[in-house]
Amino acid sequence: MPSLHDATRGRILFGGDYNPEQWPEEVWEQDVRLMQDAGVNSATVGVFSWARIEPRPGAREFGWLDRLADLLHAHGIGMVLATPTASPPPWMGARHPDTLPRDEDGRTVWWGSRQQFCPSSATYRAYAAAVTEDLAARYAGHPALTMWHVNNEYCTSCWCDGTARHFRRWLAARYGTVDALNEAWGTAFWSQRYDTWDEVIPPRRAQYLRNPAQQLDFRRFTSDALLECYTAERDIVARHAPRVPVTTNFMPFWTGQDAWAWAREEDVVSVDVYPDPKDPYGGQYNAMIGDMTRSQARGPWMVMEQAAGPVNWRDVNHPKPAGLNRLLSLQSVARGADAVCYFQWRQSRQGAEKFHSGMVPHAGEESRTFREVKRIGAELSRLAPEVSGAGVAAEVAVLHDWHSWWAVQQEGMPSREVAYPDVVRAWHRALWENGYATDFAHPEHGLSGYRMVVVPQLYLLSDAAVAGLVAYVAGGGTLVSGFLTGVADPDDRVRPGGMDARLRRLFGIRVLHEWWPLDRGERVACDGFDGTLWSEELEAAGDAEVAAAYRGGELDGLPAVLRRGRAWYVSTLPEPAALRALLARAAGEAGVRPVLEGLPELVEAVRRGGLLFVLNHGRKPVRVPLPAAGGGVYRDVLTGAAVAGSVELERYGAVVLREAAP
Ligand code: GLA
Repeated sequence: MPSLHDATRGRILFGGDYNPEQWPEEVWEQDVRLMQDAGVNSATVGVFSWARIEPRPGAREFGWLDRLADLLHAHGIGMVLATPTASPPPWMGARHPDTLPRDEDGRTVWWGSRQQFCPSSATYRAYAAAVTEDLAARYAGHPALTMWHVNNEYCTSCWCDGTARHFRRWLAARYGTVDALNEAWGTAFWSQRYDTWDEVIPPRRAQYLRNPAQQLDFRRFTSDALLECYTAERDIVARHAPRVPVTTNFMPFWTGQDAWAWAREEDVVSVDVYPDPKDPYGGQYNAMIGDMTRSQARGPWMVMEQAAGPVNWRDVNHPKPAGLNRLLSLQSVARGADAVCYFQWRQSRQGAEKFHSGMVPHAGEESRTFREVKRIGAELSRLAPEVSGAGVAAEVAVLHDWHSWWAVQQEGMPSREVAYPDVVRAWHRALWENGYATDFAHPEHGLSGYRMVVVPQLYLLSDAAVAGLVAYVAGGGTLVSGFLTGVADPDDRVRPGGMDARLRRLFGIRVLHEWWPLDRGERVACDGFDGTLWSEELEAAGDAEVAAAYRGGELDGLPAVLRRGRAWYVSTLPEPAALRALLARAAGEAGVRPVLEGLPELVEAVRRGGLLFVLNHGRKPVRVPLPAAGGGVYRDVLTGAAVAGSVELERYGAVVLREAAP
């Protein structure tokens, strides 16, 4: 199977989405010159070119793409060639309304933006396959081609009648009989029993709360339906060019795709990541997406898109202060990325993203943004031989599963204030601030390689996952779990006792009496800290230790944090410093060490291969002491300078160090 290495060949890919169809061809010449200037070695083309390639049904206009591919090649720039299928041309919707998605209310989602396709539409799939076939046949042998990029950020969903038929087929394959579906969905409730398959529909607009198991299965189905679209195109391009790796870009920590399942179908796992420059913990967010994507890739991965400056889809869109683009780029490389790319090369003058930054912004090549881009390009080419292909070893794993996310984020739950991604982020932030090297893992993956496993929240757990957690602790692992974990089985059926009995035994919970969710902004006092979001009325088993109790309020004196041996249960979301301290305690006992001890706040250290990345996410300069191990002398890989004792990092500064040979 091809891999990212087949595209990098020892380099770090640097470049971005390139949409030359938005520009006259004179500009292309300037583009490739500037790309060379900036050390760009990769351009992703064709992402939204369907109407240009196929202006009317069945027509093919490849001349411009031929000239472009040749031009890129002549300038030593590799081509990541996208199938254009994320944005069907208007003619498709106009002639074939069955290709257009319908929302939950049955309203049509029209053309005029992008991604207006129903993943279940046979017409859409046929046109997508045909254009992919011709594109692949034409460019499979082109010397510029380094990678295939299928579609873009698969994120549509549809509730139309064609989708309903497809959903029924998917359900029939999962359950076999309508009786089994009734059982799994709990349709005895509210007279929802289905008599025949034809009565089953996607969860459309309804009078009141909808069936949660139906909604969960529809999420699963939608992810699978999109994945079918991806694999169909992947198989076409791979047939034409079996040695060229294939990817599709994930949105970061996006709810719509089970990325564990998708990653298995990709040669290269790639992601788009846009930390908010104003967020003081933007570095943690970038780290989390990097950890997650590396774990999906099980090796080097690709930043397919990030922004050189502001995006234009937040309420207020902040530019990146000087140094931040470089810092986040090096941070991704530190966490295993072998490709650092952007949306997009040249900022558009027209269209919905004309105020979204580019590597070459409206201000042009004299801009601060482009100067920083050039610096990053030069540094990545220096870094590549030292790091490309190397792995990142982690002692801690965060468990995450999309199915559990889908199940917990539904109507009719005890609290609407619990947002799964925020809970995961809070736990990852605590690990990040403690400086541990951290992976993400699926709850059914092998965990024995980790010293500590944390479960921010896995409301839905299969029997296999529960057994895996129990075995992990029995085998000497340290497990720290947050609240609302182990509540439901894969059909979203509540486990007897309100939480899986094996997990209650593991954590030392005798009875889980009630959940006491907290209001927005409400805090609950516990020994030494405040809890937020949630609390629980728990009764500890005789052999459990109460590590912290609730103080005051309804739960006064009852356990807030329980442990039984190496298994910890945290029944609230401790404020950040407290979660940090709790995880430091558990990690310390488990033998987990930070990459570097004693770092100033917002300074991060990451080891990749033999390199030590030291990254200052703070807005003030800092001096960072360096370990004296191995003589304490380092070589700054980017400047060649010798470094000893400590290193000074400017605001958003970053250094990459190698221990100097004695
Ligand atoms: C994603 C998409 C791009 C563009 C950017 C804007 O990365 O893939 O096409 O819309 O977002 O941030």
